Amino acid sequence: MSPAGLRASASAPAKTNLALHVGDPTPDGYHPLETLFIAVDVRETVTASINTHVARRGSGVMVTVSPAPGSEYAEMIQSGTARLSDIPLDDSNLAVRAALAVSEAHGDNPGIELRIDKAVPVAGGMGGGSADAAAALVAVDALLAKHLDQPRLGRHRLMNIGSTLGADVPFMILGGLAEGRGKGDDLRTVETDDQLHLVFVPQDQGLATPAVFRQWDHAHRVHTAHRSQRAPDPLNPALVRAAAIGDAPGVATWVRNDLQSPALELLPELAALLNHGVDLGALAGWVSGSGPTVCFLAESAEAAEDLVNGLRREHRHAFSTTGPVVGAQLIPEWGTI
Ligand code: C5P
Repeated sequence: MSPAGLRASASAPAKTNLALHVGDPTPDGYHPLETLFIAVDVRETVTASINTHVARRGSGVMVTVSPAPGSEYAEMIQSGTARLSDIPLDDSNLAVRAALAVSEAHGDNPGIELRIDKAVPVAGGMGGGSADAAAALVAVDALLAKHLDQPRLGRHRLMNIGSTLGADVPFMILGGLAEGRGKGDDLRTVETDDQLHLVFVPQDQGLATPAVFRQWDHAHRVHTAHRSQRAPDPLNPALVRAAAIGDAPGVATWVRNDLQSPALELLPELAALLNHGVDLGALAGWVSGSGPTVCFLAESAEAAEDLVNGLRREHRHAFSTTGPVVGAQLIPEWGTI
């Protein structure tokens, strides 16, 4: 096979946090977390191919992004509520950084072209950028292992590399339901035997994660001096159990996001949406991660569809999905590997 024909594709899920407990920041600025991640069935796809022309340009990795056909994100682009130009195509793109980190670990960069098919809204609190990075790590590892005739780095090593790219990246590789501690990258899988039905409502404007953490600092009077270093509250075992068995009313009772208040302070209009979703039949609603995407929990697949229809009648972007789902995975039928 000529190098130019070689390519590999991988997908990675979006996430929400069923619990997100925040502690006082450590000196590096990161906040210790106790979080319960759930991977949801909205997937980013990254296709990586060898392109020797790219090796002679810039860092040796180039990226293009298209909205994934049929996704809510594609509708948002079409209706002008999201712009592809919001996504950086230079070396600040997390997928490009992932490809560079993997090529460094393999000891060679023959020139890598990435194509991202994007389904997850940008800067929304669903971890779309982290999913791009996770899918790129898996795709580029498979591509370079084949091209260089080396063993793959494998999941464990990719999760370690991922943690240097962003706190959520290791979870996007792991997937499923997982407790996260530290920055969110110290993970423990929770075995599950049923699914939850979720409805996501992306917003027209994004919220930058650092700004939401700064707002949390402000509300908790965190100053550089006299830092008390409060630890995050431990995860609630009742919530973890409920999520593990797909007990939606139990999850609705115990779901908690400490970043919700700061996100609402920055975007007060989200409060009315949270109440409205519950009026339309959701068991609970919360801000996803650092927001501003709002997530609702529904009793069943039918209830989730009803909620989506109700929200869409009011001209909101809304889509239903399920979780937990698997983490980053190669897509065998797409590749030549
Ligand atoms: O790790 P990631 O790049 O996604 O984090 C983005 C920003 O969010 C960090 O630079 C930091 O300001 C903030 N953050 C934090 N504590 C965490 C995770 C993220 O303060 N545990």
